[in-house]
Amino acid sequence: MKTTTILASLFSLGGLVSAAPAFDSDSGSSYSNGYKDYQKYTKTHTSRPPATSISGSRTNRWGYKDGAGDMYAYAKAHTSVPPAATPLSDSYKNRLAYKDTHMYIQNGSLPPPPTPAGGLGTNGSIPYYHPLSDFDFQSINLALNQEWIELDLFHHGLAKFSVEEFEAAGMNAEDRYLIQFMAEQEVGHAMLLTNILGPERAAKQCTYRYPFETVREFVDFCQKLTRFGESGVYGFLEHLNSRDAAQLLLQSITTEARQQMIFRQFEGLFPMPVWFETGITQSMAWTLLAPYLVSCPAENPRIEWQNFPALNIENNPDATPLYNTSIPGNDTTPAITHNRTIPLSYPGREVYLTWELPGKIVSYNNSYITTTTAGPPKYVAWISQLNTTYTELFDIDGQSGMTYQPFGRVFGDNTAPIVNGTMFIMITDDDIYVTPSNISELNPHIVAGPALYQSG
Ligand SMILES: *[C@@H]1O[C@H](CO)[C@@H](O)[C@H](O)[C@H]1NC(C)=O
Ligand SMILES: *[C@@H]1O[C@H](CO)[C@@H](O)[C@H](O)[C@H]1NC(C)=O
Ligand SMILES: *[C@@H]1O[C@H](CO)[C@@H](O)[C@H](O)[C@H]1NC(C)=O
Ligand SMILES: *[C@@H]1O[C@H](CO)[C@@H](O)[C@H](O)[C@H]1NC(C)=O
Ligand SMILES: *[C@@H]1O[C@H](CO)[C@@H](O)[C@H](O)[C@H]1NC(C)=O
Ligand SMILES: *[C@@H]1O[C@H](CO)[C@@H](O)[C@H](O)[C@H]1NC(C)=O
Ligand SMILES: *[C@@H]1O[C@H](CO)[C@@H](O)[C@H](O)[C@H]1NC(C)=O
Ligand SMILES: *[C@@H]1O[C@H](CO)[C@@H](O)[C@H](O)[C@H]1NC(C)=O
Ligand SMILES: *[C@@H]1O[C@H](CO)[C@@H](O)[C@H](O)[C@H]1NC(C)=O
Repeated sequence: MKTTTILASLFSLGGLVSAAPAFDSDSGSSYSNGYKDYQKYTKTHTSRPPATSISGSRTNRWGYKDGAGDMYAYAKAHTSVPPAATPLSDSYKNRLAYKDTHMYIQNGSLPPPPTPAGGLGTNGSIPYYHPLSDFDFQSINLALNQEWIELDLFHHGLAKFSVEEFEAAGMNAEDRYLIQFMAEQEVGHAMLLTNILGPERAAKQCTYRYPFETVREFVDFCQKLTRFGESGVYGFLEHLNSRDAAQLLLQSITTEARQQMIFRQFEGLFPMPVWFETGITQSMAWTLLAPYLVSCPAENPRIEWQNFPALNIENNPDATPLYNTSIPGNDTTPAITHNRTIPLSYPGREVYLTWELPGKIVSYNNSYITTTTAGPPKYVAWISQLNTTYTELFDIDGQSGMTYQPFGRVFGDNTAPIVNGTMFIMITDDDIYVTPSNISELNPHIVAGPALYQSG
């Protein structure tokens, strides 16, 4: 066995590739094997080998043979490849690329592939990690307000509940340290966004109110708050003028996405029951955040997004009860994952809604007011994954009505159900078609909401 291996590797050293042993990367060895095969073939044939059963990269190397004469002619007369601007036929370019590759391989390293054309911000321009428009400033400042509340919230929960209360909810000292670490991540996120906005203008931390009395409710609130924090950023990231600032924000929000999932795990939920995390508009995120801000420093820049009238789900599925059973689907102790064989909700479920009229004073220092430009309520918009799905609003009576949880799969049969996890619903006056990048077209049609629907 050993002998054959040595023999085989000796054979693979044949042909031109004297430097072959220097390459143990896949591409290196497949190059030398390919070239060896090629040489073997051309010794006994006068034509190129058939294309069948040759990998794409090998096919390129076969292509080299035809142009070999040209290539060597060029190489004799020049010491470098022609400047990129020289118009070359594709096949000729391939041959030159081959020559470079060949030289690098002889020298003991592989060449980097040429950078594909296109892209933005890749031409050596200096990144500018600051807002380039009011839209940028207001979006990032909203995100900063979100980071500040998360920092306060995580600390608050750790301080509010005793060790015994956490242990009774199945959360041990290491779990609590993870929450402590998340708070520290928020320090970093707030610092980053403050630097992006400029310390003079960036919002400072506020005081907050929270709707929980137990550890389980705290964890539930955390997974909900981080859900709209995360989705609120996904909604505007692509629309920022400053792509460089978007890059930094993205690197914070992916961290927040992990926090959201971990809080779901602490709640005993299935950690990620969707294929895609959804995005919402700034006004939707601000509507959800505003009620928890009590008082902010006077210097904080005013948040210029719209506040919609509040929407309440009268029978929102409740994931907070703690069941410690071995029955699959009925164990909600903290875990990496639990099968939800008894799902929190299902398509066709009746959902009862009440909502407020516009004109209510909300948020910190009572300095905001809810508004809407929509006509009469007609639909419920369900924003989840890549989709905004509408259901009809029934039994409309003043500010109340009911609807049915929709069915629908992201990409049709045998793909993920659209409605799952912590997702967003709102009352609308129309059922306009929107996709992730133009979801803000929905803002003028919102009668009330969003609210977070705990579908799974
Ligand atoms: C390979 O080495 C030779 C001799 O040192 C050098 O002239 C040549 O530029 C090298 N080629 C590449 C592609 O690095
Ligand atoms: C890079 O591209 C941008 C946009 O096309 C242009 O404004 C800028 O001058 C370029 N910078 C450099 C260093 O070439
Ligand atoms: C769940 O039950 C097991 C077995 O009785 C026990 O060891 C564990 O502490 C319980 N966990 C919680 C969170 O109640
Ligand atoms: C909000 O109220 C607090 C406490 O009265 C005050 O210190 C702060 O300046 C106010 N902020 C705004 C934005 O008015
Ligand atoms: C889970 O078990 C608890 C305790 O036996 C029970 O009260 C509850 O109804 C069960 N939940 C479901 C969804 O079956
Ligand atoms: C978990 O759910 C999957 C999908 O329904 C099922 O195939 C699997 O058997 C379940 N496992 C357990 C342990 O319940
Ligand atoms: C949500 O996903 C979980 C896990 O895959 C599944 O058990 C549950 O049935 C889903 N819920 C809905 C409403 O589709
Ligand atoms: C969900 O959104 C995706 C992406 O826009 C789309 O391809 C798919 O058809 C939508 N699914 C449904 C049921 O509308
Ligand atoms: C949103 O974009 C989709 C294409 O992705 C388009 O069909 C639709 O008309 C747009 N909606 C509005 C309200 O402009």
